Amino acid sequence: MQSKPASDSSVVMAVLMEPADANTAGNVHGGVIMKNIDNTAAVVALRHAGCNVVTASIDRLDFHNPVYVGELVFLKASLNLVGTSSMEVGVRVEAENPREGQVRHVASAYLTFVALGEDGRPTQVPGLTLDTDLQRQRHAEAVDRQKMRLAEKQREKAGRERAGL
Ligand SMILES: CC(C)(COP(=O)(O)OP(=O)(O)OC[C@H]1O[C@@H](n2cnc3c(N)ncnc32)[C@H](O)[C@@H]1OP(=O)(O)O)[C@@H](O)C(=O)NCCC(=O)NCCS
Repeated sequence: MQSKPASDSSVVMAVLMEPADANTAGNVHGGVIMKNIDNTAAVVALRHAGCNVVTASIDRLDFHNPVYVGELVFLKASLNLVGTSSMEVGVRVEAENPREGQVRHVASAYLTFVALGEDGRPTQVPGLTLDTDLQRQRHAEAVDRQKMRLAEKQREKAGRERAGL
């Protein structure tokens, strides 16, 4: 299977926040941003894998700034790491007031997707070629995160088994 460059699958999505996206305080609901993060990252994983993908995990997500109705939300997403069937996608979320043009960093997130074959089981994805220093740095950091994720998953599984859950 031929490797693909990260630039082939990276995307920038722009979404206008509408009144239906508001929470009871009138700001944009955090869940709307989370859904857009998942959707955008899934597009990256789909483009790279070329087959069905599912979200396996989403790392810790902090909201640094609120988003308001009428603002444009930009989601910039690219592939950091490819395993056998798994892919880590990084997403940076920014909000812009289109009248004033000011851009704020809203959140950054790392999501892991797994490619599924026709049998619904994890299947191999193309390798990732890294062409820039930034891509190599993101890749190295993603390797560390994936180790931590899998160690945490093991710890949680052992804890559930001890508790008989
Ligand atoms: C994600 C899923 C396919 C993993 O299945 P599994 O039987 O645990 O698969 P495996 O143990 O063979 O792992 C497959 C890959 O996923 C990775 N993986 C599994 N769980 C992971 C997690 N929580 N975080 C990051 N990576 C994970 C493994 O490291 C492995 O990567 P590799 O192939 O690159 O080495 C399975 O748990 C699943 O289908 N979950 C539901 C996904 C879903 O429906 N998401 C949407 C929710 S609405």
